[in-house]
Amino acid sequence: DKPQLLTGKKVVVTAGGTIERIDPVRYITNDSSGKMGVAIAKAAHDMGAEVVLVAGHIDVVPPINIQVVRVQSAQEMFDAVLEHWEDSDIVIKAAAVADYRPLHTADRKMKKSGDTMTLELVKTVDILERLGQIKKSQFLIGFAAETNDVEKYSREKLTRKNCDLMVANDVTSEGAGFRSDTNIVQIYDRLGLVEQLPMLSKEDVAQRLLTIAATRMGGVHS
Ligand code: PMT
Repeated sequence: DKPQLLTGKKVVVTAGGTIERIDPVRYITNDSSGKMGVAIAKAAHDMGAEVVLVAGHIDVVPPINIQVVRVQSAQEMFDAVLEHWEDSDIVIKAAAVADYRPLHTADRKMKKSGDTMTLELVKTVDILERLGQIKKSQFLIGFAAETNDVEKYSREKLTRKNCDLMVANDVTSEGAGFRSDTNIVQIYDRLGLVEQLPMLSKEDVAQRLLTIAATRMGGVHS
């Protein structure tokens, strides 16, 4: 049995890729299966928390005993997180949010015409950055999916998005990042490296991460 470090706490987790529509049959998305986020939601539940899982496009089935809010776009994900933000204790952004969306979404299927076509994209809302700006007592955890200069970029994101912890994964490593059942992560705070974890199942990564969060937010120790 897991130690009940999160009893009485509300944990909001985002998982999966957002879907940014081009037209009714096409969209832009990211390469996330949702496994990491779902593992965190499950571990938080097992540690006694009230959990809300905000899920974009995911390939795994979330446990039935967890409240799931399904969303598509980055904007919908932001709205759903905000609805649960005020009374949340820990917010964890494991989702792969599209950074850009089509400027226009067509109501009807777009017809093929020329040999090339140009899609105009505009930035989506940066959910984590906005949460960092309105943060009060919430303990905010971001993920950084990197392919190079992992420490540099992850620590930059931590500062810019005002997070308490940033979980870095090198998505080019075997056994880490998108789709795999395992992950290899480094956890950073403002001062530097908190923990470098070996290759672990996403469930074990989730448990280790939540244990650090529970301790740091002044949760129950046992
Ligand atoms: O789902 P899996 O297949 O299990 O894969 C897990 C994972 C690789 C998706 C996960 O471990 C991970 O790294 N998630 C974050 C992916 C990502 O979008 O990273 P990023 O470096 O682009 O973004 C940094 C942080 O800002 C993330 O917490 C992201 O959720 C957040 N963000 C990014 C853009 C945006 N518009 N809004 C955001 O909130």
